[in-house]
Amino acid sequence: MIGIVLAGGSGTRLAPLTLLANKHALPLGNVPMIHHSIDLLAKIGVNRVIVVCGDSDAAKFMRYLKDGSAFGVSVSYTYQDRPGGIAEALGLCRAFAAGDQAFVVLADNGVEYVDTLAHAVRELGHADRWRDAAIFTTPVSEPQHYGVIARDADGHVTAIVEKPSVPPSNLAVTGFYLYPPDVFDVVPTLVPSARGELEITDVNNWYLRQGRLRMYELEGYWWDAGESLAQYQTMHRHVLEHGANHWKRPISAPPEAS
Ligand code: G1P
Repeated sequence: MIGIVLAGGSGTRLAPLTLLANKHALPLGNVPMIHHSIDLLAKIGVNRVIVVCGDSDAAKFMRYLKDGSAFGVSVSYTYQDRPGGIAEALGLCRAFAAGDQAFVVLADNGVEYVDTLAHAVRELGHADRWRDAAIFTTPVSEPQHYGVIARDADGHVTAIVEKPSVPPSNLAVTGFYLYPPDVFDVVPTLVPSARGELEITDVNNWYLRQGRLRMYELEGYWWDAGESLAQYQTMHRHVLEHGANHWKRPISAPPEAS
């Protein structure tokens, strides 16, 4: 499985902070935002990572992350030269993925606990289970800012709706996605949305329609620090105090005291 970290977005919602610095280079806790994404992938066992950069920021990320060895991973870089959307950025990584699964992280997203993400990687990360894609949800108070889960009367998920003005639920789709190798055949079939981008929600709806989309609910707090200046500032303070990417339960329990 390869890790794909999307760090190309310019972060207009965080202006004026992003007039001088890329969003993912802003401090979050006591490290730059992108640090948490690489640390997260290392923790959940995804150790081959490609970072998608944009604008004039690639050199900054290279200087900070280098070859990734300080994180215990190997990092490569690629470049998205226009704001074409999350799914377009994913499509740029096809050659790098070389037929492997992809675990995608939006670099402005982060978590308190990595357990659920690691669980999905273990559950789907075997060649005989490469059929399914996975998304990770969490309840939020303002779902209209995110991709949102819609269900029918029987509770079956019917669609994911991107930034609905009337949200069908309070369950947001977070910026972590696990895809089988054929995601790179799905991306070229997408058409740009009203905002002129290839939407990751369209990729997820494609897997949902095929009956190939698994959903996991995250535990603990989650952030999309690019959502607004207020959210960024809140999360920066919170991560300073509490940290991020913790294990809720150790992978192997310590021996029982006798
Ligand atoms: C993107 C996705 C959205 C998802 C969100 C999570 O939104 O399109 O479905 O809920 O990331 O952070 P964007 O950040 O592009 O507005």
